[in-house]
Amino acid sequence: MSELKQNFFWDEVVEKVQNNHKSKQPFFSMAPMEAVTDTVFRRVVAKAAAPDVYYTEFTNASSMVHPKAKFSVQGRLAVAEDEQQPVAQIWGSRPKEIAGSIEILADMGYQAVDINMGCPDGTVIKNSSGSDLIRHPDLAEKIIVAAQSGSLPVSVKTRLGFYKPEEFREWLPIILRHQVAVLTVHLRSRKEMSKAPAHYEHIDEILAMRDEIAPNTLIQINGDIKTRAQGIALVQEHPGIDGIMIGRGIFENPYAFEKQPRQHTLEESIALLNLQLDLFDEVSETVTTKHFEALKRYFKIYLRGFAHASALRQMLMDTHTTTEVREILTRELAKVYAAVADDKHIYRDNAAASADMALSVNKQK
Ligand SMILES: Cc1cc2nc3c(=O)[nH]c(=O)nc-3n(C[C@H](O)[C@H](O)[C@H](O)COP(=O)(O)O)c2cc1C
Repeated sequence: MSELKQNFFWDEVVEKVQNNHKSKQPFFSMAPMEAVTDTVFRRVVAKAAAPDVYYTEFTNASSMVHPKAKFSVQGRLAVAEDEQQPVAQIWGSRPKEIAGSIEILADMGYQAVDINMGCPDGTVIKNSSGSDLIRHPDLAEKIIVAAQSGSLPVSVKTRLGFYKPEEFREWLPIILRHQVAVLTVHLRSRKEMSKAPAHYEHIDEILAMRDEIAPNTLIQINGDIKTRAQGIALVQEHPGIDGIMIGRGIFENPYAFEKQPRQHTLEESIALLNLQLDLFDEVSETVTTKHFEALKRYFKIYLRGFAHASALRQMLMDTHTTTEVREILTRELAKVYAAVADDKHIYRDNAAASADMALSVNKQK
């Protein structure tokens, strides 16, 4: 397959972003996040402020090709009809299974695949996958070659190194030599997990490597970037960057990808939470049983920075169904709104300073 067709998906991403701007702009993506970036949350983020690219949670290639296990990954790979097609992220260590899983993805309608070579999780490493591939570049290369024999453009997401960030000088050229469509670099070593600050000081060297070895490969930078504005500032400092990936920033601000940032009302936040509840029910009924407990991690995204927020979250932690959540929201939000003069137009952040009011509202019950 020609390189042109292979990279059609990414060419289109870049073109779409460029069409709206005179100067070079990066594309923005929401990072793949296990147990977070499923079809439900991707659609909520699309409603709040859409990135240019979405990724699935990572999915194990062996499970995809195994006749008995393949149904267990269906939930991860589900894409709604009205949703923008995400990039499928996969992980594994067996080149044959990687190639097989990519054919399955292509049949499902996926247009691009990303291979995880950065996951620090112990179980993934024990399976010679994720960041372990940084220590085993021969296997990493075999995986990339097998993936590229398929019909989808192949990208790789990795870290700077396993033990030390400086390993990137040997590691990244190995990937670049395979002319992957996109190389996403999470600017930390495996050992640093997500604790050390991202190493922006290495960006220029990475871009120079790309220019020399694989000028057509897009470089996407990831790590500690919380908003579109921060991403744009980073690209202004390092104009060779093609894409910016945001992960945990979305937990602090569901509007992280907003082009013209503005304040958002509590009412808007609650509408996002309600959308999440509705889509959770829809997917549970039509695709795969979703575990209610997993929903609880999202409450803090929407219910923060206003009076009563933490008390309200506390109440929601004791719920067991979406119906219970909706009941509590209806009851408690009426009190929150009644307690502030400006009714539903209280702002998430503005109201944060009066967080103590949460307790007083609660005590008035
Ligand atoms: C809850 C969670 C789940 C994650 N799952 C994945 C994953 O499935 N695949 C992956 O490549 N990275 C995963 N990551 C890493 C993120 O994609 C990203 O590289 C990391 O969070 C650094 O970016 P940030 O500082 O913008 O959050 C995960 C991170 C978090 C916080």
